Amino acid sequence: MYRSHTCGELRESDINTKVTLSGWVQKTRDKGFVVWVDLRDRYGITQLVFDEDRTSSKLLEQARSLGREYVVQVTGEVIERTSKNPNIPTGGIEVLVDEVILLNKSKTPPFTIENETDGGEDLRMKYRYLDIRRNPVKNNLIFRSKVSMEVRKYLSDHSFVEVETPYLIKSTPEGARDFVVPSRMNEGQFYALPQSPQTFKQLLMVGGMDKYFQIVKCFRDEDLRADRQPEFTQIDCEMAFVEQEDILDTFEGLTKHLLKEIKGVEISAFPRITYDDAMRIYGNDKPDIRFGMEFGELNAVTQHKDFGVFNSAELVVGIAVPGGASYTRKELDALVNWVKRPQVGAKGMVYVKYNEDGSFKSTVDKFYDQEDLAKWAKITEAKPGDLICVLSGDANKTRTQLSALRMELAERLGLRNPNEFAPLWVIDFPLLELDEETGNYHAMHHPFTSPKPGQLELLETDPGAVRANAYDLVLNGNEIGGGSIRIHDRDVQSTMFKHLGFTPEEAQAQFGFLMDAFQYGAPPHGGIAFGLDRLVSILGGQETIRDFIAFPKNNSGRDVMIDAPAAIDQEQLHELKLKLDIEA
Ligand code: AMO
Repeated sequence: MYRSHTCGELRESDINTKVTLSGWVQKTRDKGFVVWVDLRDRYGITQLVFDEDRTSSKLLEQARSLGREYVVQVTGEVIERTSKNPNIPTGGIEVLVDEVILLNKSKTPPFTIENETDGGEDLRMKYRYLDIRRNPVKNNLIFRSKVSMEVRKYLSDHSFVEVETPYLIKSTPEGARDFVVPSRMNEGQFYALPQSPQTFKQLLMVGGMDKYFQIVKCFRDEDLRADRQPEFTQIDCEMAFVEQEDILDTFEGLTKHLLKEIKGVEISAFPRITYDDAMRIYGNDKPDIRFGMEFGELNAVTQHKDFGVFNSAELVVGIAVPGGASYTRKELDALVNWVKRPQVGAKGMVYVKYNEDGSFKSTVDKFYDQEDLAKWAKITEAKPGDLICVLSGDANKTRTQLSALRMELAERLGLRNPNEFAPLWVIDFPLLELDEETGNYHAMHHPFTSPKPGQLELLETDPGAVRANAYDLVLNGNEIGGGSIRIHDRDVQSTMFKHLGFTPEEAQAQFGFLMDAFQYGAPPHGGIAFGLDRLVSILGGQETIRDFIAFPKNNSGRDVMIDAPAAIDQEQLHELKLKLDIEA
């Protein structure tokens, strides 16, 4: 028996008990006549004591020889500590050791295995198994497991069946590139790893499964960010005989369940906003509504004077920054430079100080009088003491720029409180999105999403205006889930593919299996997928999903621990009948 107790378990009620513990040596303190060793496992830390009076000199020597991260098994008696440590649950006791068995030695770890470590990100990724011994990483993984368990509990209590779908498939378009896998048995042919199980879950509905879910890996070859990994996990769900309202209701229920069970937070009905309103009011289809700073459109109150910049703009729009009237000239210049950075891309910024005494001072006083500026304040809902920031130009670009400024200022003002949870449904997304470079339309969600009832005809005349039965769930400014009601009619699906630029032959070759299935009694159906990594990290009060993934990839998509991706040897290439064509 390696252990009778864990290292987080013993209390003063265990005093005089003989125990066996196994774990890692966190640190050793040698006072000459007494040696203390902190022994750590997943559950906590227990202090071991060896002293001259009660321990043989051989054992004392053995204790002194233990290095950091050595793995040991010890046996001894639980005794009361003379100086107790109220900061840890085992702080009232220590174990007076009478036997130490060295289970394994350890090289000196490349960084300290403490809550606050001296190891940089790269080093910790390389030795991720050591990083996982640290509380912050370990706790995130345990937290993730708890969320997954609650998801399974809720969904199975609501009659969902977990079904596994294949990983070696054909392209499922979700807007990214595919990762492909060559097939040895089918020369010159490739599988694609699923960007999502979208088509399979729809086929399960045709198969009569009715309520499906799966906690499943998805693979997307796209540029990485804090909230994106090339392989990530979805809580993927689909239901038959449902309308949008049924889906929103069911998955609002799941989200509420998680917020309550995991965070103890109860939220009544989630607010809803249309995509168009989200863009107009927040410049963003995933608005963070923990704070206000809503956009005020100022065209009507700015374009009557001689200020050419505003007069020539498609949109003039502003936000009120709480308390911003007190910013110094230097701070304001820095803010203007911030919006002019290439990442944001504004040409400049007009600002108005709404002074505590009710007067206004702006960078455009030459053009606008106090009465004009008072109108701006009314529209942006600025109060005395606030700063009104105004951007102008092309409507879409300006909204995106002002949204970036809104988020940045909220961050600086501490308005993005990680312990506050503000979910929001964004509904009525456009069905199609215009690719500005190619001039072609592509599906905003995916090609299986159904247009709103009665809007199919509009596809011919004004494709950009067609709205979809598609929705996103946003939590604290992050898209944590998205889904839609699907097309379940073969002819409608063919029409959709036609509008997306597929010839009938191409559509049949790529998605014939789905359109064929629709001919055998496909029920009306719809669903949603949550990004589990994102959901877990936001519930955990963070926005970097890497911290909640056991073995994540770095920003170049590499696993630096196992050193992947890697070249494969000639023999393997030969077997796959592949020839590399890479210029040196
Ligand atoms: P969508 O593409 O919106 O929908 O994906 C669903 C959710 O998955 C998460 N997500 C990601 N998380 C981490 N890294 C990534 N690279 C990444 N990409 C997406 C997001 C997102 O909201 N088949 C549809 C769902 C459906 O229609 O039912 C789909 O995959 O949180």
